[in-house]
Amino acid sequence: MKKNWTLFLMIIGMLVLAACSSGGSGGDTEEDSDSGSSGGDDGEVYVLQAGHSLPDDHPYHLGFLEMAEKVEERTDGRVKIEVFPFSEIGAERELTEGMTLGTVDLVVSSTAPVTNFVPELAVLDVPFLFNDRESAVEILEGEIGDELFAAMEEQGIIGLSWAENGYRHVTNAIRPIEKPEDLEGLKIRVQENEIHLAAFEALGTQPTPMAWTEALTALQQGVVDAQENPAIVADQYKLYDSNQKYMTLTGHVYSVAIYMMSKDTYERLPEDLRDIVVEEGQKIGAMERDMIVEMEQESIQTLKDNGVEIIEEVDPAPFQEIVSSVYDMVEHQDLLQRILDAQK
Ligand code: PAF
Repeated sequence: MKKNWTLFLMIIGMLVLAACSSGGSGGDTEEDSDSGSSGGDDGEVYVLQAGHSLPDDHPYHLGFLEMAEKVEERTDGRVKIEVFPFSEIGAERELTEGMTLGTVDLVVSSTAPVTNFVPELAVLDVPFLFNDRESAVEILEGEIGDELFAAMEEQGIIGLSWAENGYRHVTNAIRPIEKPEDLEGLKIRVQENEIHLAAFEALGTQPTPMAWTEALTALQQGVVDAQENPAIVADQYKLYDSNQKYMTLTGHVYSVAIYMMSKDTYERLPEDLRDIVVEEGQKIGAMERDMIVEMEQESIQTLKDNGVEIIEEVDPAPFQEIVSSVYDMVEHQDLLQRILDAQK
């Protein structure tokens, strides 16, 4: 009798294991996607998790939704992409680390925190690097951009396409900033990036690097007086409700962002599916950039409508002169020089 029970339990156990490893239905877990094979229709449904730090009406998110729809359509439902906004599965630095470890499949992030894993990218966070948006796009979509993607791949991250978050501007709770001296002593939140930190030190502020997830509370509680981000972020996060009364259009950094995929995920997917995911990921960067351009002016207007004083007429030259000291910090001076020369 005891023998029969043991046999019965073993059979049940085997049936449960077989059911778990076959995947195939909606709502598959990450474990299902880990068991990918190298080609052909294995009947498996691969569920990829895509993460980012912004709201679900930000172009970062809309780009991923477009990619998810196209990928699902082209793979007949064999690849599903679930998109997580608001840092729900990690802030930008954690998401990037997750890709290198193979625990996060897809990410869109500004480049600043990614430089902690791919030092070559630091060149893109130098203030006042690009003459204009068009020059930035031409450089990123050319040879230099390809070299940066190759450097990322060495760290386990596949660059899919270049996106952006707009030009970064300074907001603060204390006073209108018209010239660099007005920044003196302001406590400002900056991204986790050495070049941003050094630039704001050079400008006389007291910068504190922190993830965006901590920044809102820091602004609300007065731990910091200021932050710097594109208008669309200030608008979507209603920074006027977090004491931010002034926004100066410094445009000190063209905030480059990247749609990326973990190399581990890429290798786990069967060849036919991975090609589709990469192709669709390559298309969304340009689309995302167009949406940002369209939304930028609207965001500035919304900020004004909500009482934010916008300081529009700013002479960038004195800011530029002060932060030029951080150009020497860039490890890959060759890359920096090539970017500057390409815009002469
Ligand atoms: O300031 C930041 O950390 C980034 O600009 C943000 C808001 C997360 C978007 O990439």
